[in-house]
Amino acid sequence: LQREFQHFMLKEIYEQPESIGRGVAQYVASLGSSAPSFHALPEANCFEEIQILACGTSLHAALVGQFVLEQVAQIPTRVRSASEFLAAPLPVTRQTLLIVVSQSGETADVLAAMRLANQQSSSGLAGFKVFAITNNSHSAIAQQADYERSVGAGVENSVAATKTFTAQLVLFYGLALAWGRQRDRIPDEQWVTWQSRMAALPSQVDQVLQQDDSIAAIARSLKHTNHIILLGTGINYPIALEGALKLKETTYTHAEGYAAGEFLHGSIALLDHTIPTIALCPTPPFRSDPSLENPPSEGGDQMLKVTQRIRRNGSDVIAIGGSEAAIALPLCDQLLSPFLTVIPLQLLAYHLAIARNIEVDRPRNITKSLNSF
Ligand code: M6R
Repeated sequence: LQREFQHFMLKEIYEQPESIGRGVAQYVASLGSSAPSFHALPEANCFEEIQILACGTSLHAALVGQFVLEQVAQIPTRVRSASEFLAAPLPVTRQTLLIVVSQSGETADVLAAMRLANQQSSSGLAGFKVFAITNNSHSAIAQQADYERSVGAGVENSVAATKTFTAQLVLFYGLALAWGRQRDRIPDEQWVTWQSRMAALPSQVDQVLQQDDSIAAIARSLKHTNHIILLGTGINYPIALEGALKLKETTYTHAEGYAAGEFLHGSIALLDHTIPTIALCPTPPFRSDPSLENPPSEGGDQMLKVTQRIRRNGSDVIAIGGSEAAIALPLCDQLLSPFLTVIPLQLLAYHLAIARNIEVDRPRNITKSLNSF
């Protein structure tokens, strides 16, 4: 049955099982020795390090991308916001692959950063290449790069990026797997496991979406809350940042994302009973899967210690995943958990905006694409 949506943001959140499935079919399932989606992209032996530049939600996707490129493909990767790159460019070499990420493909800071990197490399760095990941192959950023791929999420109308974020993740995982295979970092058995785990993502995302009513109830309970803290560890730290951005831009709530352990080093002094903490708890039961050779993770235990301390101090913890979850998540490998942990945060932001009568698809002071100032 076709469901009617009152807002683009909710429609686009609900389109994710489909857009993730399309991306997995295009960039992961077809990945073999002759993967068509990766034809004419640089081979892993053409570069020694990757730099990634992006802004906003695309920057958070880049941080998840960095995690899988480093931990799965074992390629040294640095990420910088495009605007900060303009202030302090990273040195590029002939062995650098520069990846620029932009949903619109038109963001002014990303274009300016590309130009600056190209100027740096024009002094004889023939091997330096730029690879654009956008949602529009006809955009300026895609057109000006040496290589480009579209994440193929379909048009995104809501100012808040949702389905393009998870589509960017799929492409990063596809690249990490392709380059990891080329570098002999992913043996055949692991490769088969990766493919089946990624193929399961659309139905797992669907299971999270089915908790929409209880997530909406939590959102309503936060209607008069002025500050929200979000905690994540490891690959879910960028998801804490992304959740905070979604809450700020659509609900005008002051929200901050932290790495859980780092939060103890001063910022925890902020907390009182009026400030709830949202904790992303991918372990347990999201245990690392030895068959995927996950990086060693103390993240689950650390999160448990931090949330216990927050509760002892008298503040509320809303757990997403884990044994005391307010919002449960299907069992999933730690490395794939960002696809699931981000969905409740998108829904929470949407429903809180609605509870506050905010025009959720067109929040104040921002536009869909920051292509000029
Ligand atoms: O089109 P881009 O991905 O380059 O846009 C970057 C940011 O402006 C964008 O992600 C912004 O943060 C969104 N409104 C987030 O929902």
